[in-house]
Amino acid sequence: MSKSISGFSKLSKSKKVDWIVDSYFSNKEDAKNIIKQYWNTNDKLQQLHDEFIENTITNYYLPLGVAPNFLINGTLYTIPMAIEESSVVAAASKAAKFWLNRGGFKTEVISTIKVGQVHFMYQGNFESLNAFFNLVKPQLIDATDYITKNMVKRGGGIIDIQLIDKTEAISGYYQLHATFETMDAMGANFINSCLEQFAQTFKIQAQQFDGFTAAEKNIDIIMSILSNYVPECLVKAEVSCKVEELNAHSDILPEEFAAKFIQAVKIAEIEPYRAVTHNKGIMNGIDAVVLATGNDFRAVEAGVHAYASRKGHYTSLTHATVENGIFKFWIEIPLALGTVGGLTGLHPLVKLSLELLKKPSAKTLMSIVAVAGLAQNFAALNSLTTTGIQQGHMKMHLMNILNQFNANAEEKATLATHFKTNPVTHSAVVEALHKLRVNN
Ligand code: MEV
Repeated sequence: MSKSISGFSKLSKSKKVDWIVDSYFSNKEDAKNIIKQYWNTNDKLQQLHDEFIENTITNYYLPLGVAPNFLINGTLYTIPMAIEESSVVAAASKAAKFWLNRGGFKTEVISTIKVGQVHFMYQGNFESLNAFFNLVKPQLIDATDYITKNMVKRGGGIIDIQLIDKTEAISGYYQLHATFETMDAMGANFINSCLEQFAQTFKIQAQQFDGFTAAEKNIDIIMSILSNYVPECLVKAEVSCKVEELNAHSDILPEEFAAKFIQAVKIAEIEPYRAVTHNKGIMNGIDAVVLATGNDFRAVEAGVHAYASRKGHYTSLTHATVENGIFKFWIEIPLALGTVGGLTGLHPLVKLSLELLKKPSAKTLMSIVAVAGLAQNFAALNSLTTTGIQQGHMKMHLMNILNQFNANAEEKATLATHFKTNPVTHSAVVEALHKLRVNN
């Protein structure tokens, strides 16, 4: 039976490993070896990773791949992607190459506004609260000067604060709804620090406001936190070409391909079961770049899916049309990203990824990430509406199956050739490997 422990965080890393191994594993030697196998021999680098979080026992590797040939607004990029799913980088690269010869991707950053809220309870007259808010608003902003000084120098800061009445939903519930421009920073710490200062000033000043009754002076702050829903931090990415240029398949005419492709997008627009999978494929591309560049993929996921539901039902993030013989395919998504602060200056692979992307501004990174999502969706729909997804997917998965059975280099080479012309299924690979071993 596993045991509880107190003071675990204060143990040394080795002691933590010992406790884990003793408490949970039957083959203790094996478990310890696996954990230690992933320790970096460069002590300084290992310490950096140890200190990212609490209770680090080892490192968890994901492959960092690259997808070259992305032409975005006339500039060529090789995009770094951190992901475990075998076909994602291959699919991105294929889509990039396809659009490279058809004008590439065009993007537009529509807006870059971020949001934070102070949630509070007030039992009293709304007119008095509104009068107090209008009086105190400049003070709320002034009191954050020590936080906003540098951001203002860089062109950002607090955009506005509004008082929002939410009493119809919850009795006595109001918000200070604040908007921010955080330039090249994702801005979570900046926003949260400003919000906590707003809350403090708001509460203290309320106690001194003559327009309140004694009971009204007691504003109850519930919490102060940024919102990961950022519908006004929006980017659009697009590809387009003449329908006749959709000619990469020998067995389907371009017009027919365009029609099927558009139908597939329309299905995702109206059918939530399909939309979730359609958008999951988009997030394959988005998360991989978000992760490689040290950004918060959980924040991006939450915000993107909320955006996909903004009209009251969950729908596709991408859209496609054919008008006057021109095929157009685009994505519009909210992305709160940073290229300074957070992990960006700390994690060596994040620094490398950002340098590979030519040290982009946050706006440029928004464009690149949106393009990665659009490309991924193009690749998925391209396969789904023609050959089916499994052909490419299983080809990429072949190595995983071979590794599962400890295939050696020679076996891998032989079977990679064999499966170039034969359909890959789990059982076919197992059978072919077995035959090869019996015959040798
Ligand atoms: C698999 O990770 C992603 C797909 O299911 C996306 C899609 O169906 O559009 C292939």
